[in-house]
Amino acid sequence: MKNLDLLVNSEEKRQEETLMLIPSENYASKKVREFVGSRLSNKYSEGYPKRRYYQGNYFIDEIETLAIEKAKKLFNVPHANVQPYSGSPANSEILFALANFGDKIMGLKLSAGGHLTHGHPNITFSGRYFKSIQFGLDKDGLLNYKKIEELAKKEKPKVMIIGTTAYPLVFDWEKFAKITDSINAYLVADISHVSGLVLGGVYPDPAPFAHVLMTTTHKTLRGPRGAMIMVTQKGIKKDSELPSKIDKAVFPGLQGGPHNNTTAGIAQALIEADSSDFRKYADQIVKNAKVLANYLKGGGLTLVGGGTECHLMVVDLRPLKLSGNVLAEALEVAGIVVNRNSVPNDPMPPFYPSGIRLGTPAITTRGMREKEMKIIADWILKVVDHVKDIKLSTNSEERKVFTRNFKKNIQKDKFLIDISKEVKNFLQKYPIS
Ligand SMILES: Cc1ncc(COP(=O)(O)O)c(C=O)c1O
Repeated sequence: MKNLDLLVNSEEKRQEETLMLIPSENYASKKVREFVGSRLSNKYSEGYPKRRYYQGNYFIDEIETLAIEKAKKLFNVPHANVQPYSGSPANSEILFALANFGDKIMGLKLSAGGHLTHGHPNITFSGRYFKSIQFGLDKDGLLNYKKIEELAKKEKPKVMIIGTTAYPLVFDWEKFAKITDSINAYLVADISHVSGLVLGGVYPDPAPFAHVLMTTTHKTLRGPRGAMIMVTQKGIKKDSELPSKIDKAVFPGLQGGPHNNTTAGIAQALIEADSSDFRKYADQIVKNAKVLANYLKGGGLTLVGGGTECHLMVVDLRPLKLSGNVLAEALEVAGIVVNRNSVPNDPMPPFYPSGIRLGTPAITTRGMREKEMKIIADWILKVVDHVKDIKLSTNSEERKVFTRNFKKNIQKDKFLIDISKEVKNFLQKYPIS
C-alpha cells in the first residue's frame, strides 16, 4: 500500500506544478486551510446558534454567527444558512423546503451546462423525486428566454432552479424573474460558480430578482468546500416562513451536526472577500478570461457563445473533429489541467464530449494577468496542433480500447513532456499559499 503522507504531498506538489484551468477550482488562503484543519472539527453542534442540542458551543455560536452576518452583509440578504455540507446537499435542501415530492421543478439540462441537482432525470434526487422539466440552449449555444418562458408557462413548475457550470455568458436574472413571477413560482439562483464575481461587481447580482440564492464556497469565492443558502428580501416578501423552512430543511431535514471547521473557513473567506483586493481579484478573473478567449479564437479555435463574459469558456472542437478526451489528456501531460466538456447539442455521449472547459479563477489567484494569458494560450494552441489528427472511432467498443491505450502512450510523448517542463518552470514565479 502506498504511503498516505507521500500521496498527500504528491497531490500538493501536483497543484503547484500544473496550470489549474478547471473553472470550478481555486486555491483557498492559508488561513482558510488552517481553520479547516483546526480542532473545530472535533465539536458537535447540532442546531443553530443559541439553539444547540450539545453543550460547549459558545465559541462555535459566535463563529457561525460571524459567518452568517458576513454573508448577509456581502450578498445583501436578510437570511443566510452556512451549514450545508456542499452544493449538492444545499440544492436538495432548497427543493425539500420549497416543494413536495412529485411537484414540478425546472432547470437547465446537464448537457447544456446545468447541474445534476437541477433536475437531471432518473439518477439524481432532484430528477427522481420531483417531476423535472428541463430546458436546453439554442444551436448557437445561448439561452433562449422566449422559449424558456413558453415552456414554463405551459408546465407551471413550482420552483425554477437556475444556475450553470459551463455557460460562458452572463444570465439575465430579471428575465428569469419575469418568468417565475408570471407563474407564481420560486426562483432559486444557484450562483456556485460566479458568487465571487457577483461580490466583485463583475457579474449580475441575482439578489433583487430571486427568492433564494445558493452558492458553494470553494469556487470563485475561494473558501473551503461547503455551501450557503440565502433567502432574499423578495423571498421573505413571497413567504415570511422561508428562512425557517430553509433552516429546518438543512437541520434536521437532511443534515446532522454542522462542520464547524468549515464554518470558520467560510467566515474567513467572507472576511477576505469583503475587501477592495478581492474586488480587484474578481475583476482580473474576468479580464484574464476575456484575453485568454481572444487568444484562443485568434489561434483558430471556436468558442461556445463566441467567447466569455465571466470566468470560463468552452472550446467547441467539432470543427477540428477532435475529441475533448484526446485534448484534455494531452493537455494534462503538458501540465495544463482542463475539463473535457459537452458542447450544446453535442452529438457525442457525455463521456466522450466534443469540447473542453477552462477558466481563470485559480491562475488569477496565483497572480497571473493579461500578459500570462498569451503564454498559456500559445501552449494550448501548440498542444491542439500536436494532437489534431488523432481521431476517436465512432464505434463505442473501439473507442474504449483506443482511449485506454492512448492514455497510456501519451504519457511518454516528448513534445508534451517538454511543454510540461516549461509550465513547471514558469509556475515557480507564481507560488500558491
Ligand atoms: C452550479 C453548481 N451547483 C451545484 C454544485 C454542486 O456542488 P458540490 O460539488 O459542492 O456538491 C456545483 C458543483 O460543481 C455547481 O457548479
